[in-house]
Amino acid sequence: MLARTYTAALCGIDGFEVTVECSAQKKLPALEIIGLPDTAVKEARERIRAAATNSGIRFPSLEMILNLAPANRRKEGSAFDLAMLVSVLTCGGTVPAEGLERMSFIGELSLSGEVRPVDGVLCLCLAARTHGRTEVFVPAANAAEASAVPDICVYPVRDLMQLVRHLRGEERIAPITFDRSIFTKGRTTFPVDFSEVKGQAHAKRALEIAAAGGHNVLLIGPPGTGKSMLAKRFPTILPEMTFDEAIETTKIHSIAGMLPGDTPLIVNRPFRAPHHTMSPVSLVGGGTNPKPGEISLSHGGVLFLDELPEYGKSTMESLRQPLEDGMVTITRASAKVTYPANFTLICAMNPCRCGYFSHPTKKCTCKAGDIQRYLSRISGPLLDRMDIQIEVPPVDFEALRLSTAEAETSETIRRRVNAARAYARERCAADGEVLRQNADMTTRQIEKYCRLTDEASALLKAAFDALGMSARGYDKILRLSRTIADLDASETIGARHISEAIKLRSLDKKYFNN
Ligand SMILES: Nc1ncnc2c1ncn2[C@@H]1O[C@H](COP(=O)(O)OP(=O)(O)OP(=O)(O)O)[C@@H](O)[C@H]1O
Ligand SMILES: [Mg+2]
Repeated sequence: MLARTYTAALCGIDGFEVTVECSAQKKLPALEIIGLPDTAVKEARERIRAAATNSGIRFPSLEMILNLAPANRRKEGSAFDLAMLVSVLTCGGTVPAEGLERMSFIGELSLSGEVRPVDGVLCLCLAARTHGRTEVFVPAANAAEASAVPDICVYPVRDLMQLVRHLRGEERIAPITFDRSIFTKGRTTFPVDFSEVKGQAHAKRALEIAAAGGHNVLLIGPPGTGKSMLAKRFPTILPEMTFDEAIETTKIHSIAGMLPGDTPLIVNRPFRAPHHTMSPVSLVGGGTNPKPGEISLSHGGVLFLDELPEYGKSTMESLRQPLEDGMVTITRASAKVTYPANFTLICAMNPCRCGYFSHPTKKCTCKAGDIQRYLSRISGPLLDRMDIQIEVPPVDFEALRLSTAEAETSETIRRRVNAARAYARERCAADGEVLRQNADMTTRQIEKYCRLTDEASALLKAAFDALGMSARGYDKILRLSRTIADLDASETIGARHISEAIKLRSLDKKYFNN
């Protein structure tokens, strides 16, 4: 006798299909599992036997071999329990074999026969769909996220008996449907607004540009000027997520086991603000079975590092490669996985330990060497990756007295951001290019889309020589000026766009290079 069922396994962000074959013979009862299983998979032998017995289902008294294919890929975790047991029960004749080729089974079993939630169900269901499975059985607790996958029928399974009765056609499980209204109902209404920040017009403009093009920002200034306040309000001016973006971000949170049970989809851009005591592993991801870190959890959204120099040196440096590539590859003895990590980095810091270096009125009490040492915690390469570097100076009394009602709201700013993004999208779509945001432009795309007026070219050349720009810095200025021109709905990049871009990037000279 031979039975075949399907399930899926994770490899980084993507799932792959696993076929569970069960071959049985009328010999001494036994069960063996082959096909590169890890410990959790080997232990499934005991779990599925106990689950069946405790649910009142007879476990076949046959000599059985369970093979997990493809045999050359390592299978981890407990998500195969359900598929293995269905395979065994089919072999034993407890459930019919009809229709199994349409189905995929995902879930861990408890000894009592309950179906327990597993991580990464969204990715697993996507893999099942890729292989043409149209009915996917998932743990009831994971059903919401599974329902976000289009074109499959998702059955939430509470316990083994419920599944067996369904397969026998005795009592059907009601499939779950995706609630599209999550896109409107699930949106956060922000409790904070840009209008609450007084003064700081320069910083607000910089954040608007950052939102329009997805540029990284470094805010530097004395204590209490609104740096943290500004950064926390940054998500309020970001464009809303598209369905595809939502799926991508949800996949990562699903793998990390951080998706709330009743949430089918993350529809708000993540804003992650990890504390400076965190380790490089929690930032970039890792562990024996590598899990996504903060940079991947903020994919599609914002990573905010407040008090930047307080972060560990290696923590900061580990950001360099992902900032460049928009993804991170983690290599462990057991596996090599790649997770997306395309986020906007916002950093805030004081210019020195006492906080008042270059303050217009207050005196800085740090020694010259201390200031240097404090600032040098931020390495040149990391600094070079900050597209926008601006000062957030103290607010003057007059500005503080202005009422919030007179200031621009996040809503108004977001409208401009959306318009700029739409303008950029149309430009790319016209010749079939895909570009998520200007900050991701490749060198080829920069050449294609960043056309400068003669005056702008001359200005850029002068600045390049005067500021000792790196080649990366040069590209960043061009990307930044492209975004500024988009906000202006201007096809070509003019001198004023270049000049604003240069101003947004030249601060490192003042603090870091002297
Ligand atoms: N520009 C501003 N407009 C209105 N309120 C402000 C402004 N700046 C600071 N405040 C007030 O001061 C508080 C502290 O501001 P915030 O935490 O943003 O300062 P910071 O620049 O991050 O300082 P630090 O360098 O010490 O972290 C805010 O909660 C707010 O009440
Ligand atoms: Mg702060």
